[in-house]
Amino acid sequence: MKTKRIFLIGILMLASLAIAFVNADKRNIQPIAYNHNKHVEENDMECLDCHVYAEENAQASIPNIEDCIVCHEEAVTESESESTLLSYIQENKVIPWRQVYVVPDYAYFSHRRHVKLGELDCTICHGDVGRFAEPISEPFVEPVMDWCMDCHEEKNVSNDCYACHR
Ligand code: HEC
Ligand code: HEC
Ligand code: HEC
Ligand code: HEC
Ligand code: HEC
Repeated sequence: MKTKRIFLIGILMLASLAIAFVNADKRNIQPIAYNHNKHVEENDMECLDCHVYAEENAQASIPNIEDCIVCHEEAVTESESESTLLSYIQENKVIPWRQVYVVPDYAYFSHRRHVKLGELDCTICHGDVGRFAEPISEPFVEPVMDWCMDCHEEKNVSNDCYACHR
């Protein structure tokens, strides 16, 4: 009876460890533990300083070593995440960021249209990113068709199939 219970507890502990492992894996999908809050809130940077095309192009763009090197040519902190960044810079290697928000090619989405012409704030679609201390690993809202259409209906924007499926 007793050994059976210990066995069961052992199985449960292993199972919860496995779940924790899977979750931890999911939480940290980015190659560097990038911290938005340190840059935006604590060092007054603007979204457009790094996502430089958000008002001009379809893609906002994710910055890479050529943008980071401006301030991180040498260590400015003692953090492990910064030393990882410095090794990418020193080896002149592209940081393989995983893009979290993805709309498939058969649907058309443009940042310029929404940010510049629509005057929508980044937070509406991406949450309060400037306060995120962890790198982004899952979307604030999944960019699916119903979500697009709900906002278009609310704002009286075309929901013609061909507006998005060109
Ligand atoms: C109306 C909703 C909406 C707004 C407003 C918006 N985004 Fe996005 N964002 C998206 C969607 C949808 C995607 C996925 C696009 C794709 O796959 O082409 C995305 C992708 C991104 C990406 C990764 C891919 C890329 O385009 O480079 C970045 C970075 C980004 N957004 C930053 C921003 C910033 C910064 C702002 C504010 C200046 C902003 N976004 C405003 C919906 C929005
Ligand atoms: C305009 C200057 C500037 C640019 C550009 C910049 N950073 Fe930083 N970064 C800083 C400063 C300042 C700190 C120190 C923050 C602190 O500890 O107060 C910092 C700290 C960091 C840290 C350590 C933070 C921690 O959590 O311990 C990492 C990692 C980092 N930056 C990554 C990046 C990456 C990746 C890029 C390019 C995409 C980048 N930075 C671009 C100014 C900059
Ligand atoms: C110092 C540069 C820097 C600044 C300033 C900055 N970002 Fe980022 N941003 C990054 C980096 C690096 C990544 C990739 C790592 C990550 O996902 O956390 C990223 C990722 C993102 C993504 C996820 C893109 C995707 O689909 O994977 C969004 C959305 C985003 N940023 C929005 C913002 C918004 C909104 C602001 C202003 C409040 C902002 N960022 C300010 C560097 C910056
Ligand atoms: C939070 C509100 C909001 C969300 C979410 C949103 N949009 Fe929009 N969208 C707008 C607004 C507002 C405009 C009109 C901008 C302007 O003034 O030109 C627009 C315009 C457009 C247009 C141009 C329409 C035309 O008449 O040609 C396309 C295409 C589009 N959006 C695609 C998308 C897609 C794809 C998504 C989802 C991935 C999406 N939008 C999500 C608010 C939104
Ligand atoms: C405002 C933008 C927008 C409009 C308008 C729109 N779509 Fe979509 N549609 C999307 C996006 C974004 C996706 C990809 C994300 C997803 O699967 O939800 C998509 C995916 C799809 C898919 C493939 C996914 C699935 O569910 O099988 C089909 C089929 C589709 N749309 C048909 C239509 C038809 C038919 C209309 C007109 C009645 C329409 N769409 C109008 C944005 C739009």
